[in-house]
Amino acid sequence: MTPVDRRADDGANCLFPREGAVQTRAAVLRDVGKDFEIVELDLDAPKTGEVLVRLEASGLCHSDDHLRTGDIPVRYPIVGGHEGAGVVEAVGPGVTRLAPGDHVVGSFLPVCGHCRFCARGESNLCDLGRFLFDNSLPDGTFRLHEGATDFGQMCLIGTFSQYAVFPEASTVRIDDDIPFDVAALVGCGVPTGFGTAVNAGEVRPGDTTLVYGVGGVGINAVQGAAYAGAQYVIAVDPVEFKRSTARTLGATHAVASAEEAAALALELTNGVGADQALVTVGVVSEEVVSAAFAAIRKRGTVVLTGLAGPTKKTVQISGFELTLFEKRLQGALFGSSNPFDDIPRLLGLYKAGQVKLDELITTRYSLDEVNRGYEDMMAGRNIRGVIIHEH
Ligand SMILES: NC(=O)c1ccc[n+]([C@@H]2O[C@H](COP(=O)([O-])OP(=O)(O)OC[C@H]3O[C@@H](n4cnc5c(N)ncnc54)[C@H](O)[C@@H]3O)[C@@H](O)[C@H]2O)c1
Ligand SMILES: [Zn+2]
Ligand SMILES: [Zn+2]
Repeated sequence: MTPVDRRADDGANCLFPREGAVQTRAAVLRDVGKDFEIVELDLDAPKTGEVLVRLEASGLCHSDDHLRTGDIPVRYPIVGGHEGAGVVEAVGPGVTRLAPGDHVVGSFLPVCGHCRFCARGESNLCDLGRFLFDNSLPDGTFRLHEGATDFGQMCLIGTFSQYAVFPEASTVRIDDDIPFDVAALVGCGVPTGFGTAVNAGEVRPGDTTLVYGVGGVGINAVQGAAYAGAQYVIAVDPVEFKRSTARTLGATHAVASAEEAAALALELTNGVGADQALVTVGVVSEEVVSAAFAAIRKRGTVVLTGLAGPTKKTVQISGFELTLFEKRLQGALFGSSNPFDDIPRLLGLYKAGQVKLDELITTRYSLDEVNRGYEDMMAGRNIRGVIIHEH
């Protein structure tokens, strides 16, 4: 199929300068250290196994800021955004699961369904993850261009764009009655945080769980721990607004520092220590990992979900303590969730009122306001900011 021809549309931003291509406004990073720039790009028609998506909403996850600082190393230039929802406008050859008009969420990790890891039910580790450096489509080529320059798409989707071509492998169909702004959040922050607690942390009824960092990811670790039955969920964040929000979404306690959290965990467990310490801070440091490791009990688990630059040695722990106390340190990507299972599952819990999503959106922005959205995130003013796309 060829893309829907919207040349007759009134939409001023939806121009088709050449057959099969569409122009789209997008927030891009041209190099490390540069802010997002809003540009008009040419978007090719979807190729085999790809779909054209009209993005309606996109969450502002901290990971896109890591692209700006270089903490996540990628090829530039790149269209930011990996937390988005919208409507399928057209499908390329060979696409059977999706059709124009379908409401979809972009999974920040593509899932092929048949590599070794997908076959084991560990689809967050799908071999298609090898494209996350170049951020091309899975055939190795790019769909977004400015003249002769190819633009990558953050996590193969690039949701800070009015339109994008997604791999079918990244495109999860959702029910039509779910608002796009909350749907966007289940492309990354919600499953990442919820799964950090429930999958990687294996929170059990009666547990005492520490969550360091209450952003768009950590707030869902709080929700996940509470949902899984933790008796005590202790949120740790220096920002008072984060602590008060955590208290409304499942935290039994909220404190400003790791020292207070450690003391509280010991007090609540009769000196045993926390069952889990979940690290979801914006930029991980050696201090927070060491504090988390010190706060857990024997055979307790630290889950490391937050990121820092790849050369930073953020894990400096005593092997002696690791061995003799059988402490565990576990990394988690996408909360060790399976996108095509967990995204609809979490939206089901949302519809049932058991996972809160509307409450996670602090501020809505236009695409042009993307840099202000990131300033607000860094200043601690947002649980999650969301871009609402205009067409
Ligand atoms: N592993 C994955 O699959 C995955 C997926 C998405 C995001 N991430 C990473 O998770 C991290 C969190 O993302 P986010 O979007 O929630 O970020 P965010 O900036 O919205 O939230 C981070 C929070 O951490 C708090 N914080 C900072 N330092 C702290 C400290 N020392 N102790 C306690 N709290 C502290 C901040 O006040 C803020 O509230 C980022 O590093 C992001 O890149 C990882
Ligand atoms: Zn993210
Ligand atoms: Zn796979």
